[in-house]
Amino acid sequence: MSITNADIPRVGPGTPGGEWLRRYWMAVGAIDELYDIPQAVKVLGEELVLFRDGEGRIGLIGEHCAHRGASLEYGDIENAGIRCPYHGWLFDVNGKCLEQPSEVNGKSFCAKVRHVSYPVRELGGLIFAYMGPDQDNPPPLPNYSPLIDHGGIRQIEPTRHFDYNWFNFYENSADPVHVWILHGTSAYGDQTWGDRFFSADDPPSFEPVETPYGMKIVMSKPAVDGDGIVVDEMSLGFPSILQVGDTEFVHGKEDPQKLVNKGSDFEHFMFLTPNDDDNFMMFTVDYYTGPDDNFFQHLKEMRKREIPEDDRKPYDKRPLMPFRGNVRAEDIVTQGTQKLLGERREHLGTSDRGVIMLRKMVRNAISDTADGKEPKAMVLEENAEGLVKLDSFVGVRPNI
Ligand code: FES
Ligand SMILES: [Fe+2]
Repeated sequence: MSITNADIPRVGPGTPGGEWLRRYWMAVGAIDELYDIPQAVKVLGEELVLFRDGEGRIGLIGEHCAHRGASLEYGDIENAGIRCPYHGWLFDVNGKCLEQPSEVNGKSFCAKVRHVSYPVRELGGLIFAYMGPDQDNPPPLPNYSPLIDHGGIRQIEPTRHFDYNWFNFYENSADPVHVWILHGTSAYGDQTWGDRFFSADDPPSFEPVETPYGMKIVMSKPAVDGDGIVVDEMSLGFPSILQVGDTEFVHGKEDPQKLVNKGSDFEHFMFLTPNDDDNFMMFTVDYYTGPDDNFFQHLKEMRKREIPEDDRKPYDKRPLMPFRGNVRAEDIVTQGTQKLLGERREHLGTSDRGVIMLRKMVRNAISDTADGKEPKAMVLEENAEGLVKLDSFVGVRPNI
């Protein structure tokens, strides 16, 4: 099937891009944010409700009741499942109808009703769902390294919500140039790792490299003392995971000399899940294996200082102002104002080679899905410790 860039941002059921994403487990919620009430969540254009029944089982089923469509977001949780407030139909976590209180032949009618439901799994504090074609036999959920305990400490940030297309965020990680231009006066230009490595006057060189899990951008620069090459990588795991290797140094402000001596002790995964074509949510997981027991507190304090300076002129009513000085706000202003891929006019240059390569790989994966083949990275290799890593190396490599 011939796939164009315009297919990439479309995520709904039946779209080629949506069918591709449905081949993977997608993060749909965080355990700490799932309370004893139902939680409406839109995933890949489908309105769903996430809940934990009275027995502790987690379910992800259609938001609108199979009877006459009232929202189960307002349903009552019971031991056996969730009960619609309108006429009391009861559904279990698998979408099976258990009761229809006003039907005389409730049992047989109930048996005919099959409400939408998707398999879910819990891993390290996140909830993943599989919305693909083979519900009874989904691929294995990868043991993503920061979600598996291996001698460090974990932090899951509150879920973030964005009101633009997911791919704008994703492909931004294949575009390292923006780091020293857009972020050149925020965390990346602060006399520590940022200035040393990402200086706009002397930026690193970079190359996109295909990997088994997707691709990575390898940025590099000769070490100051001329001994070795300093490398900083950003990884893009298929279909929608990002890993940045240098958070410990850029935002945690660890001593850059430690990086040169030892490399990073930090993993920073971002799981992107499209709600629909115009919204996505992001689950961020950090895993730290270094010596500082209070590292996350330390990181939080450093991030708090990255507040945009409000130097707006009195007549400046631009809605996203102020933004300069905070990496996350800078990304939102630029990615959030791009139109959908395929609906914008672009002029790509040599510095867009990472983005060009990523789009091609994604088009191929979508096309493989449409042709009935297994798309890239649907099943991932574990390392000797049983972990699925996205490498994102940060440190010094010897001169080649
Ligand atoms: S609409 Fe849910 S029971 Fe009638
Ligand atoms: Fe950015």
